Amino acid sequence: MKKNSFKLVFASAALLTLSHTLWAGNITQGKTKAAACAGCHGINGIGLSEEFPNLAGQKPAYIIKQLTAFKNGSRKDPTMNAMAATLSTEDMADLAAYFSSLKTSTTQASVTDKPKTDKASHQEFPENVYISMKKSATIETFPQQQSWTGGPNMLYTAITPNKKMLLSTSPSSNTVYVFNTQNGKQLAIIKTGKAPKGVKVSPDGKQAYISNQGSADITVINLRSLQVSNTIKVKKGPHNVRFTKDGKLAYVTLQGGDGLGIIDTQKQKLIRVIPVPGITGPHNMDLSADEKTAFVRDFVHHVAVVDLTTGKVNKIITVGNGHGGIDVFPNGQYAATAAIGDDYISIIDTRTLESRDIIIGTASHGIRVSKNSQWLYVTLPKENAIAVINTRTMAVEARIASGKFPFWIAVPGNP
Ligand code: HEC
Repeated sequence: MKKNSFKLVFASAALLTLSHTLWAGNITQGKTKAAACAGCHGINGIGLSEEFPNLAGQKPAYIIKQLTAFKNGSRKDPTMNAMAATLSTEDMADLAAYFSSLKTSTTQASVTDKPKTDKASHQEFPENVYISMKKSATIETFPQQQSWTGGPNMLYTAITPNKKMLLSTSPSSNTVYVFNTQNGKQLAIIKTGKAPKGVKVSPDGKQAYISNQGSADITVINLRSLQVSNTIKVKKGPHNVRFTKDGKLAYVTLQGGDGLGIIDTQKQKLIRVIPVPGITGPHNMDLSADEKTAFVRDFVHHVAVVDLTTGKVNKIITVGNGHGGIDVFPNGQYAATAAIGDDYISIIDTRTLESRDIIIGTASHGIRVSKNSQWLYVTLPKENAIAVINTRTMAVEARIASGKFPFWIAVPGNP
């Protein structure tokens, strides 16, 4: 009896100490410290592969208990013993507070677990969407999932405003393929400069601009005659372009490092270059709804927010590793960016410039939202699948199997 009551007192004292430590845990501190754990447990607490347990939503007391056991060696795992050896009691409390605060939410858990067996539905694709498959050399249409034969290594795609033609660049053959969207037939294969990457169609539908990364110029194509009408000299490594809504200007990302070029489309000349310090090689970009701000994605892990009125960088936002697309929602609310070397995409609030991550499970590259801003499409090149996110809940609603290495997405009404 005596013994038992002693145990009880001891237990509640231990609990008290534990809960005291728990309350002391600081989530913000924990998030910073969790960078050391992210390589295995994911920054969102979802283990990056089978052998790494999920920590998101785990009970804080349990996390602290396990870390203590790893530290004193009573639980054995070479990696975790080494990791825990460096942690103080405070570190453990902070980490426990952070990981326990994360949602195991259906969003995150189901994202990685969701098998890619879903069928493309008309609800999720209110308008036809066209996706290039780099390694299949095809274009796939959604929701029909028809496949059109195209060129080798096919990368970027763009659709004309009247939705009748689709263009797709083939950098290994220095050409752009033009398709009739009615039947998927090739209308033309047009010679471009060297290593053509991004392609965009002017808002009036009369011209296409193609960024030739290898020859530092833009091929201008007349979409009536389907012939090259001009070549605009820019700076090193043009990767992609973006027309303003009135079609008077086109911004070009100069991946060679110069920054963001501005082309006067009337004069067909590069008129200015805005330097974008703080990022490595401007890769893809999009404009805010009022077109006063540019969101410039580099090929490392940054997005620069550039004020186009002052030409100053307002903020550098850290996003997933590697290159990827970036898309500002037509309703202006968010900018979403993918990351080919990471397991998450980032959703940036265009007003607060805060970003949140959505675990997508594997490498992502192409990213585009439907014209009504409700459905976010993401290509998963390593998984040969397309993820569809409902932007109202930010949950992944579908993972659809596709051709090989899905790369870029053309969405009508969202160039
Ligand atoms: C190099 C990979 C790696 C890193 C980095 C890593 N862990 Fe682990 N962690 C593991 C593995 C593997 C296990 C499973 C060990 C086992 O099987 O007992 C584990 C287990 C755990 C557990 C026990 C989970 C459970 O359900 O019992 C906790 C808690 C934990 N790790 C916390 C952390 C924290 C906090 C960090 C950062 C300070 C971290 N880990 C860093 C690989 C890692």
